[in-house]
Amino acid sequence: MTVTSLDPHPLPPWPGELTSLRVDEPSGTWSVIAVHSTRRGPAVGGTRAMTYPSLREAVADARRLADAMTAKVAVAGLPMGGGKSVLALPAPRHRLDDATWRRALEAHGRHIELLHGTYWTGPDIGTGSADMDELRQHTTYAFGRAETAGGSGSSAEATAVGVVAAVRAAVREAGRPGLAGLRILVQGLGAVGLRVAELVVAAGARLLVADVDPARVAAAAGLAGAVEVVAPEAVTRTPCDVLVPGAVGGLIDLGVARELPCRIVVGAANNVLADPAAADVLAARGVVVAPDFVANAGGAIHLVGREVLGWSAAQVLARAAAIEDTLAEVFADARARGIGSVRAALDRAERSLATEPAA
Ligand code: NAI
Ligand code: PHE
Repeated sequence: MTVTSLDPHPLPPWPGELTSLRVDEPSGTWSVIAVHSTRRGPAVGGTRAMTYPSLREAVADARRLADAMTAKVAVAGLPMGGGKSVLALPAPRHRLDDATWRRALEAHGRHIELLHGTYWTGPDIGTGSADMDELRQHTTYAFGRAETAGGSGSSAEATAVGVVAAVRAAVREAGRPGLAGLRILVQGLGAVGLRVAELVVAAGARLLVADVDPARVAAAAGLAGAVEVVAPEAVTRTPCDVLVPGAVGGLIDLGVARELPCRIVVGAANNVLADPAAADVLAARGVVVAPDFVANAGGAIHLVGREVLGWSAAQVLARAAAIEDTLAEVFADARARGIGSVRAALDRAERSLATEPAA
């Protein structure tokens, strides 16, 4: 099925391997699976559950996120490919009754199962370990079940450890010795963002926080003596040393890139840049950018490391911390070649894709 048959506006060409769509009529939910590349192994990427303005935008989001997963696992050296799935819901998840949500998950699980392991899913925005437990009743191909159910549990700790490792590398690249005394603004204080906030406070940073949910802001406000709370809509106008976007993607468009009053951007969220050209604008202004698909690979390292490669929790955290070295190499390559860090990281992913993954 192609989405062009459902929508008058054709989607742009996409070099990915597969886009599969199924609708579950009773729950009114579309399940969209995008497999970008299986060159290095089965495609992995989470299930994002949210509402979209149109099916076309749901497909476009799944594809963009799948692209990023291919680059993420390639740079992280994992023997997997990249994919993503989207559950385009008829209403925000918190407004769906339990039966409707479970139906949607069942339909999604059956959809994944039809691909016979070409695509493995895991948690993303709108889904968590309990949902993976539920999905696993309908497909084998789901990572991140609760530990009590035999899975590896939440990937947020490893993601946060990797993001903070990326902050360290970016701070050094910007010519600063360490995190102590820097103004670090964390946007989105969910499972990843709150832990990032804790870790940077422990490293002596001055914390600024923003979240649309006052309860999350309150949780962060208790972390340090003088946490500065920023209104969600003021995030991209607030001066800081390091901005860590950790909510949904698309925060930095061209206009924001031209004006952003921050020295460093480290992406915890996927696809932080709304426009790829924003990377060049930021680079031209001397803003150090830690590409999100490098910085936030800790979650993939956790899920694939624990559930495919048999790594211990300690091995996972060590690999997540090593993101600091990977990024230092990316920055050095970018400097040597006079290119931006996002381009350098994408080139690194390309090189990785051209070689066989280590057994
Ligand atoms: P989460 O759902 O636990 O947290 C997201 C937080 O962002 C929530 O507290 C929410 O209230 C807040 N938020 C939403 N819209 C906002 C806005 N406009 N302004 C400010 N805050 C807003 O999600 P989680 O697991 O912490 O993930 C955060 C991001 O990191 C997501 O984009 C996710 O795809 C990405 N990511 C997560 C990984 C993981 O292991 N959990 C791994 C790699 C990336
Ligand atoms: N959704 C997270 C990410 O974007 C974690 C994840 C990784 C989920 C790999 C499934 C597979 O990295």
